[in-house]
Amino acid sequence: MKIVIGNDHSAVELREVISAHLREKGIEVEEVGTFSTESSNYPEWGEKVARKVVAKEADLGIAICGTGVGISIAANKVKGIRACVCSEPYSARMSRQHNNANVLCFGARVVGSELAKMIVDEWLAAEFLGGRHQTRVDMIMKIEEEG
Ligand code: RB5
Repeated sequence: MKIVIGNDHSAVELREVISAHLREKGIEVEEVGTFSTESSNYPEWGEKVARKVVAKEADLGIAICGTGVGISIAANKVKGIRACVCSEPYSARMSRQHNNANVLCFGARVVGSELAKMIVDEWLAAEFLGGRHQTRVDMIMKIEEEG
């Protein structure tokens, strides 16, 4: 399992915590930045994570900004991405089981590091259930195809 992780300036510290947590679990991690707390633009980092996922250079992506919102919107503009903002573990689990989310987002100004680790763990432990959920995900992807 390989995870690509990206963040804006607001989430440098939380990204370090999450990367270390993933590595402790034996998961390969690629960090795409930013590594600076200087103000930067979240779409750049969301796009980088998303493009690595669609190129299959990573199995899944994690993208963190202040709220998780901006970076998720940016990631979702890349074809094939289903990014979701999850501020608690239940939604994180469901986003894999029902929505087959391939990028997890959250906000460094919203969740603390321990909660963020729980969100990540729940997300990674869950698997897509397929069936009726596949039908719905296919409908989402059709909307994307039609533009
Ligand atoms: C940066 O100040 C902030 O706008 C960004 O981290 C994020 O919360 C955007 O959605």
